[in-house]
Amino acid sequence: MSSSEHGFGTRAVHAGWQPEEKTGAVMPPIYMTSTYVQDAPGRPRQGFEYSRTQNITRFALQDALAELEEGAAGFTFTSGMAAIHTLLLTLKPGDRIVAGDDLYGGTYRLFTQIAQRFGLIFDFIDTSNPESFRELPADTRLLYLETPSNPLLKLVPLQQAIDAAHAVGAEVAVDNTFATPALQRPLTLGADYVIHSTTKYIAGHSDVVGGALIVRDEGLKEDLWFHQNSAGTINSPFDAFLTLRGLRTLALRMERHCANALRVAEAMEAHPKVAKVIYPGLKSHPQHALMQQQMAAGGGMVCLEVDGGEEEARTVVQHLKVFALAESLGGVESLVELPAPMTHASIPAETRRKIGIADGLVRLSVGIEDADDLIADLNGALHRMC
Ligand SMILES: Cc1ncc(COP(=O)(O)O)c(C=O)c1O
Repeated sequence: MSSSEHGFGTRAVHAGWQPEEKTGAVMPPIYMTSTYVQDAPGRPRQGFEYSRTQNITRFALQDALAELEEGAAGFTFTSGMAAIHTLLLTLKPGDRIVAGDDLYGGTYRLFTQIAQRFGLIFDFIDTSNPESFRELPADTRLLYLETPSNPLLKLVPLQQAIDAAHAVGAEVAVDNTFATPALQRPLTLGADYVIHSTTKYIAGHSDVVGGALIVRDEGLKEDLWFHQNSAGTINSPFDAFLTLRGLRTLALRMERHCANALRVAEAMEAHPKVAKVIYPGLKSHPQHALMQQQMAAGGGMVCLEVDGGEEEARTVVQHLKVFALAESLGGVESLVELPAPMTHASIPAETRRKIGIADGLVRLSVGIEDADDLIADLNGALHRMC
């Protein structure tokens, strides 16, 4: 059992579940049932009616995430996109959303190709620049932030952003996928919603797709529960179980991801064929001081630009042996990708270039392998460049 006095590592291991009364099971059983028996019409025997509405395995994961993010309640979904989509369903046509201009490509696509059709209005701003928050439109309903951002690893000055949004009566949602609650807890700074693609660090083993929304305030709980249940965007009991299993080692994994990422970033910064390294944990990152202020460490993601641009970048990623060339991130194994033709292909090329996503940008998800092996792998692949 964990309490708020315990450290994050202890809470990650125990959050959301106490050994079950009937059997003493230390992990929640996977309740694979779609429905529950009723003693009379409208009188479910144990208060459980239907699995979209109530499922103990999902509840255990939801409670664990709420506890770790220090929120009032958690909700879990089939994917990170389903979590974001469900949040948008709480809005109405004409509502204005101000969002960061450097976002996961799928989020950008959902905003610009689907949500706009239903009458939501989007403004994209540079949320790494504190000046941007001075002029938030007075009718802003939601400020939508990603920090560190995907892929450019820009940070949002969270306290300033949250205060500015609240000053105009807007709510604030923070996609905390890259940092995880091990490194940063936006709800404790006043954000209203935290979002996760639990597919990434939360589950941590690249074996399950999922998403989560955690709310700060009891008042938002009912509304989110209503939308999750009505839209039916819930995750399955098996996926909830796998995600909770991964979550138990989050603290341990993040320590190693961060330590390895720093070593990789330092080695790449010293490499003669690497033109640019982006990592918030490096002193050369323009927001390194902000990272130290609002994050416990720089995270597990590193971006590079190699000399020669896209062609050379393609050569490098195809010669890596320990890093697998694949989309996604946050698993125990190291992954590499080029955002422009892969995860961020749904953002128009012109927009990508405008916000600084070079065609040859290389994104590394640094895993928990031995850092020496990862650096040797990168050095070997860089050696293949002309
Ligand atoms: C920051 C961020 N948010 C949301 C998502 C979407 O999550 P999912 O792929 O689980 O739908 C991703 C996916 O890569 C992501 O990187």
